Amino acid sequence: MAHTDPTDIGTELISPVSPYAIVLFGASGDLARRKLLPGLYHLARAGLLPDYRIVGTSLDPLDTAGFRAVARAALDEFARSPVTEEAWDAFAANLSFVSQQDGAEGLAKAVADVESTFAAAPRRLHYLSVPPAAALEVVAMLAEADLVDRSRIIMEKPFGTDLPSARRLNAALHETFDEAQIFRIDHFLGKEAALNILAFRFANGLFEPIWNREHIDHIQIDVPETLSLGTRTAFYERTGAYRDMVVTHLLQILAFVAMEPPTALEPRAITEEKNKVFRSMLPIQPADVVRGQYTGYLDEPGVAPHSETETFIALRCLIDNWRWAGVPFFLRTGKRLAEGARIISIAFREPPRSMFPAGSGVGAHGPDHLTFDLADASKLSLSFYGKRPGPGMRLDKLSLQFEISETSDVLEAYERLIHDAMCGDHTLFTTSDGIEQLWERSVPLLTNPPPVRPYAPGSWGPNAIHQLIAPYAWRLPFERPWRKMP
Ligand code: BG6
Repeated sequence: MAHTDPTDIGTELISPVSPYAIVLFGASGDLARRKLLPGLYHLARAGLLPDYRIVGTSLDPLDTAGFRAVARAALDEFARSPVTEEAWDAFAANLSFVSQQDGAEGLAKAVADVESTFAAAPRRLHYLSVPPAAALEVVAMLAEADLVDRSRIIMEKPFGTDLPSARRLNAALHETFDEAQIFRIDHFLGKEAALNILAFRFANGLFEPIWNREHIDHIQIDVPETLSLGTRTAFYERTGAYRDMVVTHLLQILAFVAMEPPTALEPRAITEEKNKVFRSMLPIQPADVVRGQYTGYLDEPGVAPHSETETFIALRCLIDNWRWAGVPFFLRTGKRLAEGARIISIAFREPPRSMFPAGSGVGAHGPDHLTFDLADASKLSLSFYGKRPGPGMRLDKLSLQFEISETSDVLEAYERLIHDAMCGDHTLFTTSDGIEQLWERSVPLLTNPPPVRPYAPGSWGPNAIHQLIAPYAWRLPFERPWRKMP
């Protein structure tokens, strides 16, 4: 087990950002309360945001005092370390609010007011934590308020809902912002464990030589969730599991798993390799997809009586290039499933087993697997057959397991990505080109989606998932659970 020092905030290698005026749209919304305000607080406390002001804005009828109260309640509930009065006072002094109903003029004035308190004109970060339909209105407001100069903008997914809407969104964005100013956030890519895939693959000589169709049989990326939709049905009804989770998180992780070694660990090289993976992906066919909806979804507030929105999706996709031709990638995610997990599982090809006597147990527990657990305390396991001690030749499945614990004090995914965006580093962000590629590969599925099949809450999805993956089997639930580390 690898321990990191829990008192080490893990930020000594990260440089503080230059002075910033941050405009937070959707400042009293769910994401702002859970992640963005606590994340900005933590960045400030860690010394990574030495000179900043935050202008919150939303449609809620708040003023600065009201916004500070929202922020304090959010920190008390969601900050990753207890909030000290001293740190809170410093943070609160940098918070102000303007109602979005005050329009471009009100916004321009609020930003000018905070900017006058900096020694020199600061950079600007506009964080759009707003529903997709509202994003372009906000962009227009920023243009009208003359807040485009010196600025970077973080956008939340979904980046369109299909190819035409993604193209329209990108074209409209590019009328106001250059691509270099735009950061499309995918918080899965900010997770330590996701980045560790790159380190694991490209910093070691052990696995990369066998990371291809000659040695790998199939791959699973499995992200079941136990949570239901709660207050998010309005958003989800228009989105569904494919757009909410697959196009963003799962396929982005797939790109890390499947890409060629980039020429350097820098944005252009990584983006180029990721986009090559998307270009090689065969269009996703309806016959390779299982859509599901948990029973009870239709009774939730805000859900249309005959809604066909999927709360579950499993699919098979192929990357048709030299490295991966013929190796199926199985993806699964959904709400109200039996367990919450984030697993990448690589199944290796099996050797000829003719030398082992019948009944020895070789192959009885599936192929050798390399498994990444992308949980916050990330884990890695390599399973293989070994001899059971004693007479004769009986084989058992064994595993080497590795766990990185105590990661809670390094930067959380949103913190890392906000910091990267403020530094202008695009490495972990998606480009307009990459997103459009993915929507293009999604055309057959979106044009002709298979019917949604019901599944029981607490299950692993509709029964059809077993046919989808046959002759293989889903790794989850694990036959042998992770060992508890001492
Ligand atoms: C979000 C999705 O992007 O990711 C949610 O909109 C999902 O539906 C969430 O629950 C999962 O993220 P995490 O980091 O909690 O696994």
